[in-house]
This record gives sequence, structure tokens and C-alpha cells, in this order.
Amino acid sequence: MKGIILAGGSGSRLQPLTKVTSKQLLPIYDKPMIFYPLNTLLQTGITEILIIIAPDHAGDFLKILGSGKEFGCKFTYEIQDHPGGLAEAFIIGKNFIDDDNVALILGDNLYEDDFSEAVKSFQSGGRVFAKKVTDAKRFGVVEFDAQNRAISIEEKPQTPKSDFAVTGFYIYDNSVVQKAQNLQPSPRGEIEITDINNLYLQAGQLDVAFVPGEWFDTGTFESMFQANVFERTRQMSKKT
Ligand code: DAU
Repeated sequence: MKGIILAGGSGSRLQPLTKVTSKQLLPIYDKPMIFYPLNTLLQTGITEILIIIAPDHAGDFLKILGSGKEFGCKFTYEIQDHPGGLAEAFIIGKNFIDDDNVALILGDNLYEDDFSEAVKSFQSGGRVFAKKVTDAKRFGVVEFDAQNRAISIEEKPQTPKSDFAVTGFYIYDNSVVQKAQNLQPSPRGEIEITDINNLYLQAGQLDVAFVPGEWFDTGTFESMFQANVFERTRQMSKKT
């Protein structure tokens, strides 16, 4: 299994913090944000990691993360020139993924959980991780039938069909590259990971698991603040 951290984008929702640096390099308690999704990947045993970054602050990522040796893994870097959507990760990462399966994590997503088992037990299709939220409109939202089977996923719906958001950690088999290459941009001009998930879902190949522990998408000031408080509390409780 290969790993990808998607850490591009313009960080426009976090202006003016993102005027001089990238969102994923902002601090969450005592570390740059990207260290958290990186750690989530490393915990699973993945050692070959592609980091996709925007051109503006590419040098800063290299400076902070280096070759990967310090983390016991190997980093490859690719530049995403324009934020064309999350699914572009599989097009930019085509050569890196090669014939393997791939786990993608968003560079602004923080998880308390360890996904080792989910990665080790993965065989084929797609596997996503849902979490109950209070503001489902911000996310990809899963709709369930009466038997609690996932039947559709909608990206940022006006009227969410459930309170379950698809979070930013995804595991796919190698067919994800082909699927991404065939996507058409959505009305907001991006190729959407939600469209990939729906392709797997329609083929009966999407496993929707749940996130038991805390999860933060630090894309807003409020959620970034909450992630800081959570991490501080976690570290303090380890010391006592
Ligand atoms: O956090 C989970 C959510 O992430 C999912 O529920 C949604 O289905 C999914 O679309 C995504 O929604 P966001 O609104 O959070 O996506 P955002 O545009 O903030 O991008 C997420 C991260 O990926 C962010 O760190 C920037 C980076 N990114 C984004 C785009 C669109 C890129 O590196 N390249 C891109 O083209």
C-alpha cells in the first residue's frame, strides 16, 4: 500500500494566516498540522509517501519534512499547480502509485484513531470513514437506507440526508487511478473524491466504516482551535 498526503490548495478560508505560509504548515499545538496526518499514515506501516503541495510554499515543506529518513520512510513530492480537486491526487500520483493500492489522507485532517487494521485488512474496492457531525453541509455526506447500508454520497449538500460526514482518509484499490482519469469536473470546477466514492458505491465495492475517536477537519478557525485544545489536553494527560 502506498500513501498520499494531499497538502495543496490555497487556504483561502484561513486568510490572513495563510498569506505567508501554507495551511498545512500552521501549528496545531506543538507541531505543524501536516505532522498529524503523516503520523496517521506512518502508524499503519505505510513507508512510501507522496506529498502533494502547492507551488507557493513548496520549499518550506521540503525544509520541514525532508527526505523522510527522519521519519523512517521515503517521501516523494509533486506540485499541484492549481487546486483542481481532491481526486486529482490520483492523476498527479499515477506514476508513484504504479500497480499498488493507495491510502489518501488530507493534509488538514487530524485523527485520534489508529487505522492499522483498516489498512492491513484492505483487499479491493474502496474504504471510507464516516463520522457523525453537527454541520454536515460542510462535507461529503453519506445517505443510508433502512438497513443502514450506504446508498449515496453527496458533496456539501444544502439538505444533508444524514449527519454522517465522509472524513479525509480514504483507501482504494489501483482502479482509482483510472476512475479519477475519467471524471468530469463538478459545477465548482473540481474533480471530486465524492464522485470516486459514488463509483465504488454503485459497483457495490465501497466499505463505509466509522471513525470511533475524535476527528478534526481543520479547514476553519473554529475547528483548528478545537484541534489545538484537543492535542494540548491529550499531551497534558499523558504527562500526569
Ligand atoms: O475533510 C473531509 C472533507 O474533505 C470531505 O467530507 C469532503 O467530501 C471533501 O470534498 C473535502 O472537503 P473540504 O471542503 O474539506 O475540502 P478542501 O477544499 O478544504 O480540501 C481539503 C484539503 O485538500 C485541504 O488541505 C486542501 C487540499 N487540497 C484541496 C483541493 C481542492 C489540495 O491539496 N488540492 C485541491 O485541489
